[in-house]
Amino acid sequence: MTSAELDQYERDGFLVLEDFVPPEACDALRGRANELVREFDPAGVVSIFSTREQTRTSDDYFLESGDKIRFFFEENAFNSDGRLQQSKVHSINKIGHALHDLDPAFDRFSRTNQIKQLVSDLGINDPLLLQSMYIFKQPRIGGEVTCHQDATFLFVEPLRMVGLWFALEDAGVENGCLWVIPGGQKLGLKSRFRRAEGGGARFETLDDSPWPEEKLQPLEVRKGTLIVLHPLLPHLSRENRSSRSRHAYTLHVIDASSEYPASNWLQRPAEMPLRGF
Ligand code: FE2
Repeated sequence: MTSAELDQYERDGFLVLEDFVPPEACDALRGRANELVREFDPAGVVSIFSTREQTRTSDDYFLESGDKIRFFFEENAFNSDGRLQQSKVHSINKIGHALHDLDPAFDRFSRTNQIKQLVSDLGINDPLLLQSMYIFKQPRIGGEVTCHQDATFLFVEPLRMVGLWFALEDAGVENGCLWVIPGGQKLGLKSRFRRAEGGGARFETLDDSPWPEEKLQPLEVRKGTLIVLHPLLPHLSRENRSSRSRHAYTLHVIDASSEYPASNWLQRPAEMPLRGF
């Protein structure tokens, strides 16, 4: 990375790197994600949304997904009888959170020299790949993601972490691209999502002042673009009401020298430790 890019990252809290991924690699990853969804049997998972007891189960389904490949539905995927309104492949919101360790195609996409060099340029010298998500942002029902900092969900001390957001399709305002608050990483961490005693997880508020949302700026990017996100940068994405999907892949990399708290929702069992490149 150039020193101008590093200065820009320092100042704005994000970087937009066009043509980082060749189009064929984007298409291959999309193909693999669709294959995973086709193989996924939603029986027993679809019903999660219907009763209170099952909602708790759904929390466990999420909280136990740090070392698995799991499928999460769009909130608006179901009609009032709990049936899917669109086909399964058009109903999944995301897949997470250990694709990079468990699936060979995602492993290959995530562990390149180019990415290793990039995170090293950002000061992460002993990298560990922490979390991966494949986000579909489905046509018509793609849900909103409200303004947040990634460090709320993935916290390390000191905060040596970087978020990588790969556009696998063109992303614009119409199909729910990322929006960021440039420089907002300097506002400090506003909340932490922590595992609670007795199960589940909850938000701990550290600063309840509102986001300066008037400063939000859309990042309209072409397929193949990598957006690098500071862990404290406030960002969001709006609903996708358009007829075009907006597939993206995200990867979070931390430095092994940072302390990884037991209170983070994402935990790995001893037999499946985090790995580098
Ligand atoms: Fe995020």
